[in-house]
Amino acid sequence: MTGELSPIDTAKFVAAKRAVEFVEDGMKVGLGTGSTAAWMVRCLGEMIHDSGMKIIGVPTSSRTADLARKCGVKVVSLDEAKWLDVTIDGADEVDPDLNLIKGGGGALLQEKIVATASDRMIVITDASKQVERLGAFPLPVEVVPFGWQTTKALVEETLAGMDVLGQESTVRLNGEAPYVTDEGNYIIDLHLNRIGNPRQVALVLNQIPGVVENGLFIDICDVVVIGHGSGRVEVNDINSGTHEEDRIDFVDGGNMFSDLSD
Ligand code: 5RP
Repeated sequence: MTGELSPIDTAKFVAAKRAVEFVEDGMKVGLGTGSTAAWMVRCLGEMIHDSGMKIIGVPTSSRTADLARKCGVKVVSLDEAKWLDVTIDGADEVDPDLNLIKGGGGALLQEKIVATASDRMIVITDASKQVERLGAFPLPVEVVPFGWQTTKALVEETLAGMDVLGQESTVRLNGEAPYVTDEGNYIIDLHLNRIGNPRQVALVLNQIPGVVENGLFIDICDVVVIGHGSGRVEVNDINSGTHEEDRIDFVDGGNMFSDLSD
């Protein structure tokens, strides 16, 4: 029944559906944010409903927490869970070493904390997120509101000495006002076009006063699950070096998928 979904939603759905197969009874699972992660939360809810598995979810945003509760996934805070078996999340870009740009949905800080506190991070994407080099997608940097314009100027100045193709930055807006994250911070999007040395950029950005965290996820992701509009799904594991292929059909057995908005 993949015909009932658009190709892009089919790609997101099959990636999500395949990724929840990594979840086992009793696991503590980090729940990502974004439209692909929302598919994963619905698939997880369906799996819990059908199998009776006991799963605890740690959401990476208030949006995901609301959706998880709606889908019947038990939600606890990271401090309650302490350490997680796996985190499943989307990404804005994935390079061949499984380094990522994240934060397009504004949740990069909680996403990075949760993914880092997990034995394994699984990224779910459609093929459009795969890139040879990171940087075409604007790199989100979360900054404290105090003195944010000075922080923004300092970030741009710092970029001048780095292997990037642009150094313009823009504050993310919600209407006319800066977008405010779940942690009460602002986001500066860096238009770098190409990041020659992502590890260096990630380390240097976090040294700037006022910067809370950046959206480069280096050596955090273990597995990427890539969905395609045809229902084909690929699983690349960076640790074992394996590449698997599968096919998944969309079957909506209940009302879990009735509300498809993120
Ligand atoms: C949110 C994120 C998302 O994972 C990323 O933006 C991908 O979102 P989508 O699945 O909607 O394309 O990092 O902060």
